[in-house]
Amino acid sequence: MTAPGVVIAMPGNEQLAEELAIRLGLERGVATVRRFPDGESYVRIESPVDGRGTIIVCTLDRPDDKLVPLFLLAAALREAGARSVGLVAPYLAYMRQDRRFQPGETISAHHVGAWISQCADWLLTVDPHLHRITDLSQVCSVPAHAVHAAQSMAQWIREHVRDPLLIGPDEESAQWVGAVAQHALAPFVVLRKTRRGDRDVEVPLPDVERWRSRTPVLVDDIVSTARTMIETVGHLRQAGLAAPVCVAVHAVFAQTAFEDLRAAGAGEIVSCDTIRHPSNRIPLAAAIAAGVRTLLPA
Ligand code: R5P
Repeated sequence: MTAPGVVIAMPGNEQLAEELAIRLGLERGVATVRRFPDGESYVRIESPVDGRGTIIVCTLDRPDDKLVPLFLLAAALREAGARSVGLVAPYLAYMRQDRRFQPGETISAHHVGAWISQCADWLLTVDPHLHRITDLSQVCSVPAHAVHAAQSMAQWIREHVRDPLLIGPDEESAQWVGAVAQHALAPFVVLRKTRRGDRDVEVPLPDVERWRSRTPVLVDDIVSTARTMIETVGHLRQAGLAAPVCVAVHAVFAQTAFEDLRAAGAGEIVSCDTIRHPSNRIPLAAAIAAGVRTLLPA
């Protein structure tokens, strides 16, 4: 009988690794990942992986601290004889730098995708930020699968929000805000955000007069500085609507962004559990496990 595959968590990813192991009938592997006193990374595989398929679980928010140990861990797995190394990264970083916005910049999404393709045989992620790059195959040369959170988000909205009106902040969001709205059986509007800098975002006044009786639900893929949501919350409150529920796939929440959004008058703030955060309400382990199943050999 072939030994089952092995799931290994990078620090902080233990809960999802455990759930995937249970759902997929795989073994939980053990690895030490730590820093030397000088800040360099140390990794060591402690489970037998020779001839076995392996999966590393490592969400990639705050990626600069994670990419080096991730690459070393993948290398250690191969050197220990792993038959394959898959990567489950529920949040895939660097996808927003998908264009050379200013001369002299680089398209980080391409480079990070290339590094990941060097270390993993396949990649699974959740709703990657795909805009000017429209498909993961444009950044990854290995098989890559994107799990969509729309259905799970819609289910949460259906169960928790009365008469929702979904609001997407920009045209990029149109396709998937539309998908969430369709599953939630709710109307939606899409705004036209302009970003002038990291924390300088302009969102036009939404025309929501006819939706006054509904509960506004802002839906976005990533909340980072939260400026996009803060701007929109401000307009909606001024227009006399109820405190908007804010729903995001990826709760990056840089520095004080979560507190800032609350202080700006947001109602409940809710996220999927792709990045661990107090706002996590929408679990995706089942959807991620189903996605991983499609990438494993039959
Ligand atoms: C933008 O393209 C994304 O879809 C989000 O709207 C954006 O990342 C949100 O960023 P922030 O929270 O910094 O406004």
